Amino acid sequence: MRVRKAVIPAAGFGTRFLPATRAVPKVMLPVLDTPAIHHSVAEAAQAGIEQIVLVISAGHEATGQYFGRVAELEAALEKRGDERLLRQMVEISEMAEVSYVYQEQALGLGHAVLAARGSVGDEPFAVFLPDDLIWSETPTIGGMIDIFDERGSSVIAVKEVPDEAVPSLGIVDPRPMSDTLSEVVGVVEKPRLEDAPSNLAIIGRYVLTPEVFDALERVRPGAIGEIQLTDALAAVIPTQRAYAYRFPGVHFDVGTPLGLLKASIYAAMQRQDMAAELKGWLGSNPFN
Ligand code: G1P
Repeated sequence: MRVRKAVIPAAGFGTRFLPATRAVPKVMLPVLDTPAIHHSVAEAAQAGIEQIVLVISAGHEATGQYFGRVAELEAALEKRGDERLLRQMVEISEMAEVSYVYQEQALGLGHAVLAARGSVGDEPFAVFLPDDLIWSETPTIGGMIDIFDERGSSVIAVKEVPDEAVPSLGIVDPRPMSDTLSEVVGVVEKPRLEDAPSNLAIIGRYVLTPEVFDALERVRPGAIGEIQLTDALAAVIPTQRAYAYRFPGVHFDVGTPLGLLKASIYAAMQRQDMAAELKGWLGSNPFN
């Protein structure tokens, strides 16, 4: 069955971004000038996903509104004759059909994904973690959907990480099949370095079978006392298999202020109207 829907958990408190996140949902913080979550929705839309379910917490409705029309702004841009910007703004609301559901309690990533079950139903679906921003010529999730279409099993994005990152991520036990594809023998969430089966970490893109929802209903709280998506995945592997995809492109964790800053600098360096000035400024050693 074709992958038509994506779930984007976006309910976190964003404690690492306080005080900004007292009033602004973390996923709305800009990478240069574009909210991190915009990048996830754009990547999904580029890969042909039509429906997006945002999982938010109460008070974070701005995240859903971002993807709707903003009549007053559009009228003002029209009056000003700014066709280009007007087109750009309308396109944001046309990327996909975006809806939201609430995660009533912060019980973990797996719990957030389960909150979207009613909207997804009994079909395969993608999951995007908006903190993981990937710049790539082709959408990462598109490559994963191709693998899913071919093999009919869940697919997770992975990358090699340094030892110090292992205990804070989901880690895969891989059986390599090619340079980019492995079968997943096991997965473990936030292992101690000495217990980790590899340095291959899950990065926030998943294509999952609907049976993962059944597993999520059953799993008990795991690492850091939370209901973990990784544990549900581990539960379906024995009967369904899963594959790990090493994606091409540049990855940033925009879930920390420094990561967001690096991603913003990277984004500015891609822009013709900013790159030269930024490079000049950085090169002028402005920090002395
Ligand atoms: C989540 C997942 C983890 C994955 C990580 C990638 O962890 O549980 O398996 O490696 O995202 O960003 P979190 O960052 O929510 O603790």
